[in-house]
Amino acid sequence: MLLLEPGHEKLAIVMVGLPARGKTFVARKITRYLSWLGYNTRWFNVGEYRRARAGARQPAEFFDPNNADWRDARLDFALAALEDMLAFLRSGGEVGIYDAANTERARRELVFQRCRNEGVRVVFIESICEDERVIEGNVRETKLRSPDYAGVDPEEAVRDFRKRIEFYESTYQPISDERLSFIKLIDVGRQVVVNRVRGYLGSRLVYFLMNLHPAHRRIWLTRHGESHYNVEQRIGGDPPLTEKGFEYARTLEQFLAERDASGKAVVVWTSSLKRTVATAEIIGRKSIAWRALDELDAGICDGLTYAEIATRHAEEFQSRARDKFRYRYPRGESYADVIQRLEPLIIELERQRASVLVVAHQAVVRVLYGYLMGKPQEECPHIPVPLHTVIELTPTAYGYEERRVELAPGGPSSERITVMPVST
Ligand code: F6P
Repeated sequence: MLLLEPGHEKLAIVMVGLPARGKTFVARKITRYLSWLGYNTRWFNVGEYRRARAGARQPAEFFDPNNADWRDARLDFALAALEDMLAFLRSGGEVGIYDAANTERARRELVFQRCRNEGVRVVFIESICEDERVIEGNVRETKLRSPDYAGVDPEEAVRDFRKRIEFYESTYQPISDERLSFIKLIDVGRQVVVNRVRGYLGSRLVYFLMNLHPAHRRIWLTRHGESHYNVEQRIGGDPPLTEKGFEYARTLEQFLAERDASGKAVVVWTSSLKRTVATAEIIGRKSIAWRALDELDAGICDGLTYAEIATRHAEEFQSRARDKFRYRYPRGESYADVIQRLEPLIIELERQRASVLVVAHQAVVRVLYGYLMGKPQEECPHIPVPLHTVIELTPTAYGYEERRVELAPGGPSSERITVMPVST
């Protein structure tokens, strides 16, 4: 799904900011969001080029701006990443995310000119944070786990990283040129300054960034309990739960009580259909029913079994098998349509600071999971999402750790833990 209008300029999103200001967190969130929306997007991290070319273990002095040799070496890594990003944009890429400190005006000028020479539009995103507690938290959470400090005593690593930050601070020039397009994120969303950011994509980006925050909270995704249509293998409709489905809801309630022992508020979201509303009702917490979470609309095939569709609408059945992501049921929807309607909900999900339980449907859970775990769009329709299983997503530095918990109605739960790296 190419969303940039024909002839539209390609876009480079250039991160700016001192170390430990959450640039990579933001860069990866944007990469996942834009990829999920259908833009061919790729993240280029200069730190990875440095580690690949110079080795991960460099002392803080490597970042000393007065050391000419190392300064040149660091410039080479930055240019290598930049050229790779431009090559990606020349060969079908639509958005490149250039993740580096870019704290000096001269460096930004160089990146800007190189992009402009290739007809690539540039938006800078500068992350500014003066809150010592947030910086300390970032250093401990992300940097100590970075390959740069593998096997190093944590206190020594913190000291070294602080020194690295000081070197960057000694030459830092925040963005001040108002001719440039930029977004400044100040103190993790307390203030957002937007300058000369235009167009559809630009405004989506601003809206997305205004709602981002790094608070740790869990997200649980589940389908409703078994419905009568599930038993009959019919799709769509608005059927009630079976007795087994009600049992699942009761087990889900226990699961949530165990996980949320602190008694902190959990936000519960359902679709507007009976089977999700009934599942959530038993949990006994306040829930919000969203129409946007309704199951993919199967149009003229609603209420049929797959076998009936194959005989009564053979051509439709085959078209869907050929391209399940783009196929749209006559008078119904495609997975691509479901992504479009879920976009506002994704922003709402990002905005929530409490943990969220989403009780929805197979196709919708696939699409939400695809966003959170950075799965390519085309893979979404094929992600396994069985009934009576909770997908538990716990935030890590830049993504989520996934656990799948099968809740056998009435019986003991079996937990399969798959720690999945985020792919974009
Ligand atoms: O079968 C349950 C169901 O939620 C249907 O209502 C829906 O049409 C279907 O799953 C979506 O899954 P798929 O895209 O694999 O047909």
